[in-house]
Amino acid sequence: MSQTKISELRLDQVSREFGGVRALDGLDLTITGGEFVALLGPSGCGKSTALNCLAGLLPLTGGTITLDDRRIDTLQPEQRGFGMVFQNYALFPHMSVRSNIGFGLRMAKVPKGDARRRVEEALTLVQLTEHADKFPAQLSGGQQQRVAIARAIVLEPPLVLMDEPLSNLDAKLRLEMRTEIKRIHQTLGLTTIYVTHDQEEALSLADRLVLLRKGRVQQIGSPEHVYTEPANRFVAGFMGYRNELELPVGSVNEKTVVLDGLGAGGLTGVRRDDLGERAVAAIRPEDFTVGAGPNATEVTVEVVEYQGREQAIQARTDDGVDLHLRAGTRLAPGDRVTVSVPPERVLVFAAESPAAPEEVA
Ligand SMILES: Nc1ncnc2c1ncn2[C@@H]1O[C@H](COP(=O)(O)OP(=O)(O)OP(=O)(O)O)[C@@H](O)[C@H]1O
Ligand SMILES: [Mg+2]
Repeated sequence: MSQTKISELRLDQVSREFGGVRALDGLDLTITGGEFVALLGPSGCGKSTALNCLAGLLPLTGGTITLDDRRIDTLQPEQRGFGMVFQNYALFPHMSVRSNIGFGLRMAKVPKGDARRRVEEALTLVQLTEHADKFPAQLSGGQQQRVAIARAIVLEPPLVLMDEPLSNLDAKLRLEMRTEIKRIHQTLGLTTIYVTHDQEEALSLADRLVLLRKGRVQQIGSPEHVYTEPANRFVAGFMGYRNELELPVGSVNEKTVVLDGLGAGGLTGVRRDDLGERAVAAIRPEDFTVGAGPNATEVTVEVVEYQGREQAIQARTDDGVDLHLRAGTRLAPGDRVTVSVPPERVLVFAAESPAAPEEVA
């Protein structure tokens, strides 16, 4: 594929089955050139399957993929010419950093002088010039990851695919590499699809998020949109609405709803679904305040975790409902306090809509 910049990549009802089980079920997604899209979801939701279908490593069992009106899902991986960064780096151990990065250019028979210049540019971009002659085993995890990224982008491919590229790194390196990936994307503007199960990573990197669950899209939108207006209970749970309180429905209005059982006046929130007799209120820990206010309720502090400027608190209402909240003031187990939360920060979903799976803390 000769083009480097694309205008549009279209996935139309893309499906992939494994032995009758749909790992990816009718994915519709249109990506515009230069966009950074994150595929996000819990383990087993189909993220790698989607990426491998795009790369050509897995054939589709249904649907089509078109790149600027040219159908590509029938092409071999090398004919697509996409850059790929795997979770385990997959560097060639017997080649120096410089040779690893230049490998694709040699395969593509790029003239030597040109190839050398591009490798040096890529080395500068990922800040590895001084390590160019080392072998992968002589590098730190973060440096190896940077080689993998440089190798994927040196060809300026029409599409860069990254599958959990930071999951092997420690917390500090992850943050550094996250900034690095953002900086490289801002510099080169390559269209990028990035797989992660880490919502923070997805929010901080992507122009758009695609939330998957059991192979099906739950929501597609900007980070801000998905963060503030999760489409359903699953997305809310995944995006940090850690409190999911199932309560009886008291009174329902067009936009708001009052649930029974939290505080004397009940719990008022924003209605997001048609509701039956019971509903689930989704609330972020950080949206609770310690002190009087709307939706006030008395709680007993049970568990306190020190987190620097704030404490993460688990507390229980007198009715036995567990709440997760954050507090700037020092609290201790056994303390009795009043907590409150603005109604607009309480999202109420139908109880029968799927919950976020347990494995996503
Ligand atoms: N080669 C395969 N054979 C059979 N089933 C597979 C195969 N690859 C994936 N699956 C199944 O397809 C589903 C999606 O897998 P996939 O690897 O895409 O998940 P994922 O979202 O990348 O998960 P993780 O975050 O754990 O990497 C899973 O249920 C998985 O067991
Ligand atoms: Mg995966």
